[in-house]
Amino acid sequence: MTKRVAILISGGGSNMVALAQSMREDHPAKPVLVLSNNPNAGGLSKARALHIPTMAIDHKPYGQDRAGFEDALQQVLETAQPDIICLAGFMRILTPDFMVKWEGRILNIHPSLLPKYKGLHTHARALEAGDAEHGCTVHEVTAALDDGPILGQAHMPVLADDTPDTLATRLLPLEHALYPAVLRRFAAGDRTPVTLQG
Ligand code: GAR
Repeated sequence: MTKRVAILISGGGSNMVALAQSMREDHPAKPVLVLSNNPNAGGLSKARALHIPTMAIDHKPYGQDRAGFEDALQQVLETAQPDIICLAGFMRILTPDFMVKWEGRILNIHPSLLPKYKGLHTHARALEAGDAEHGCTVHEVTAALDDGPILGQAHMPVLADDTPDTLATRLLPLEHALYPAVLRRFAAGDRTPVTLQG
């Protein structure tokens, strides 16, 4: 049966668009919801243009009340009944209480070659370290930040004149190739890691 996919975003949603556009024809999954913690996320209008139902739950009124915010997320997700959740530039950390309910069914894309550079500023950190290559990772989400089994990585060389911005710009098309490739396998029950070279 076709797997139902919810995509969680916070910003422009270019990875969401790549995922949604990949789920066509004989694909084992279909997008059923795009959910954002940011009501102004540019990705929401892109999702509507793709005829995907959208929802925004602003995290700000919840302040420190992470449980309250996650309860609201949970309610929306339970209504949408996804089989798979794809975090695609979703910039809120989810607590173990939330994860327990979805473990094994949540994927994330992270702009580094994990286990290197968990967290933020990954491009600057790769440059500061003098890395010869950089890349992105799709992994299963577990209770630990940017951890969990790796399902795919895309690698690219770091060039002598790269800046954090040029790295981010060159990496994004690789993210858009990697995430759909992993999702297609994952939705078909195949967790063999995908490797791409840019
Ligand atoms: C992407 O580069 C993604 O890897 C990164 O946010 C960007 C979202 O762009 N995710 C993280 O940093 C997660 N820790 P998009 O909204 O255009 O897909």
